[in-house]
Amino acid sequence: FTVPAVDNEPMRPYGPGSAERAGLEAAIKQMQADLPFEVPCIINGKPVKTGKLASQPLPHDHARNLCTYHEADSATVTQAIDGALSAKAEWESLPWNDRAAIFLKAADLVSGKYRYKLMAATMLGQGKNAWQAEIDAAAELADFLRFGVKFVQDLYAQQPTKNSPGAWNRVEYRALEGFVLAISPFNFTAIGGNLNATPALVGNVTIWKPSPMAVYANYITHQIFLEAGVPPSVIQFVPGPPEIVAQQALKHPSFAALHFTGSTFVFKQLWKDIASNLEVYKSYPKIVGETGGKNFHLIHESADIRNAVLQSIRGAFEYQGQKCSALSRLYVSSSVWSGGFKEMLLSEISKIKVGAPDDWSNYMGPVIGRPAFEKIMSYIEKAKQAGGDILIGGTGDDSKGYFVQPTVIETKDPRSVTMVEEIFGPVITIYVFDDAQYDETLKLIDSTSQYALTGAIFATQRSALLKATNALRNAAGNVYYNEKCTGAVVGQQPFGGGRASGTNDKAGSISIFYRFVSPRSIKENF
Ligand code: ALA
Repeated sequence: FTVPAVDNEPMRPYGPGSAERAGLEAAIKQMQADLPFEVPCIINGKPVKTGKLASQPLPHDHARNLCTYHEADSATVTQAIDGALSAKAEWESLPWNDRAAIFLKAADLVSGKYRYKLMAATMLGQGKNAWQAEIDAAAELADFLRFGVKFVQDLYAQQPTKNSPGAWNRVEYRALEGFVLAISPFNFTAIGGNLNATPALVGNVTIWKPSPMAVYANYITHQIFLEAGVPPSVIQFVPGPPEIVAQQALKHPSFAALHFTGSTFVFKQLWKDIASNLEVYKSYPKIVGETGGKNFHLIHESADIRNAVLQSIRGAFEYQGQKCSALSRLYVSSSVWSGGFKEMLLSEISKIKVGAPDDWSNYMGPVIGRPAFEKIMSYIEKAKQAGGDILIGGTGDDSKGYFVQPTVIETKDPRSVTMVEEIFGPVITIYVFDDAQYDETLKLIDSTSQYALTGAIFATQRSALLKATNALRNAAGNVYYNEKCTGAVVGQQPFGGGRASGTNDKAGSISIFYRFVSPRSIKENF
């Protein structure tokens, strides 16, 4: 079998008066009228209501909840793991094209029937505007599923090229012996689906613990998987506290892999927990994680200033700086800074409107919740105390929703706290360097932060691009020339970073599928 040719899901236009805008608005209106929803755990395809309720508030209007959900208790986690393990043999022995067909159907449900509903849940629940919801919950999720099918086909085709006479060598890509624990973040609805679909496509079963701040959109994704034909126990939907869901799963002898996206701190903790349970496991678990970032733009003296400004604003402030790839530290050459960059940057930022995600005129929405709001505001305070100059923004308002104004800090200290630590909000810190200090600045970028996720270099001189690319060899897993450091596209820019940013297994590419299989070599003699 050969799967159909794949292409990236086209973005829809949402211009005023368009059918797309009307469709999305109707879905948002309906959701606002019907909320709050009640979300159970879904175990073996059936709702489980534990009665232990938690809520997912609207970040732009925190007095209201998008949903209340039933947190898993220990018995529910046991039921989820047992159910998944008993579904495993049948799922992994299905002809692979049957698994592929299910996820291709899921992709069509995402990009068609459920597009606006999933986008509405992402907008209201995670604070994205329509365009940010479109690239996430509609396009990237569909892309992960469709390209995932192609990557698995390519993986299975990787076979030994040499056979001795009278023999046939082949490699069977078995699913892992056990279950995968998928722990997904709030910031991309697409990642929630992908952390499960990737292992499931190669025959694994998963226990899915969604972020408490993205439960509703992830629940809809799970419903789509079931409607598409994923067997009821193959992906178990288990929201709940980490000390129950993750800890119990990590103590199980059949724990086979962690597929994680979230903070560096939590990932390191989970890794330590896995290490401390090692004697319990049947196999060495695979650990796949995408974690923090402190992503940079480097603006060389030869840069096109207008492009560098506009790309920097997009990289920093789209989705309120809450993409793991978001721009956070900027190194700007002094001649560019005083030659129009500063003026244009501040003038463009002053036009940015911040507010509710369903108001089409807002470029930015709320940050995800109270802890995020407080953390971001405390970093702005720390920057001020360290002598940083707030050029614009610096204020927030959490009276109704968690709103933070786009903030630019200028610092004379390239190792000041907001140049080094991850903030995960709409705050950038700028260090202006002397044009003659380009080489020293490259060293600074490489050595300042523990992270290595994304970066972008702006220069029209190719020699400057190449010099930076070589010097920053290990400073980012995704590098862009003359374009913002966010927005990797599935199948086009494999995504992930090294150092404290993750295991760099590259979501959106064939590479990650190798992590969820256990190949077996078979030599047959005739
Ligand atoms: N993959 C997302 C991006 O590149 C996080 O922005």
